[in-house]
Amino acid sequence: MRIAGSTVLLTGVTGGIGRTIAHRLASAGADLVLTGRRREVLEPLAAEFGARSVVADMADPKDVTRLAEECAGTDILVANAALPSSGELLDYTPEQVDRAIDVNLRAPVMLARLLAPHMVDSGRGHLVFVGSMSGKAATPSSSLYNATKFGLRGFAHGFRQDLHGTGVGVSIVQPGFVSDAGMFAETGAKAPGGLGTVTPGKVAAGVLRAVERDLCEVNVAPLMMRLGCAVAAQFPGFAEKVQRRSNSESTIRQIVESQRASR
Ligand SMILES: NC(=O)c1ccc[n+]([C@@H]2O[C@H](COP(=O)([O-])OP(=O)(O)OC[C@H]3O[C@@H](n4cnc5c(N)ncnc54)[C@H](OP(=O)(O)O)[C@@H]3O)[C@@H](O)[C@H]2O)c1
Repeated sequence: MRIAGSTVLLTGVTGGIGRTIAHRLASAGADLVLTGRRREVLEPLAAEFGARSVVADMADPKDVTRLAEECAGTDILVANAALPSSGELLDYTPEQVDRAIDVNLRAPVMLARLLAPHMVDSGRGHLVFVGSMSGKAATPSSSLYNATKFGLRGFAHGFRQDLHGTGVGVSIVQPGFVSDAGMFAETGAKAPGGLGTVTPGKVAAGVLRAVERDLCEVNVAPLMMRLGCAVAAQFPGFAEKVQRRSNSESTIRQIVESQRASR
């Protein structure tokens, strides 16, 4: 689908990867609508990109509905907002569990439900969900994040099939560990298991490629990680044993502690 001249709603623009995606979309000629929950960060960003802004909290179902209503003519949705949701489930309060599922899974599914009818009616549109390689392979201290990203991947693949022939495409873009900015870079940790990182620019390029070529799935990660995740998806029991031998406990602890405040 052609990005130039299309109205694009982008969530999570106030985060590390979102800004880069906004920049690439603006350069490609998109008519941007940016959303985030912090007005003081969102509005200057919107001004920088000449975009409209809508403040909304993706953990609040009413805000999600209002956002969709205010963005009724959206041609392209890029659902990028998420919480890191790292750590062990038993260390989460029930409210924190709900928030992780609401922001990472419910909100993107509901936005798709509310925005896709206009796209189908006009015979053109695209929905991109920013997932994660954690949607292909489970890792320790990530069960909630794994649940939401596995769920998002399944939803994207299924919804894509349902919309086949309508002119509306659906893609999932799955980054590995991202350097320089975003929820992993901010922890200051090295990629566990020496898996390497990708830049926010590569993730943004993956998002644009997914829309322009109507790709089902784009995995933005170093080759070793893509291969490892493919094996883990097929043989999860084997992957679990390999991971247990990787001596990554202290790195994982660093990531979890650093992300704890965002639950
Ligand atoms: N960074 C990585 O290494 C990595 C790897 C794989 C996948 N990803 C995925 O890439 C996407 C972007 O991640 P990132 O690294 O840019 O993360 P980030 O810097 O933490 O940004 C996350 C964005 O989501 C927004 N958000 C969180 N809770 C929200 C809520 N309740 N309502 C509205 N917005 C909310 C944040 O808003 P605030 O600014 O208000 O907090 C922020 O804009 C996510 O889907 C993530 O799962 C990231």
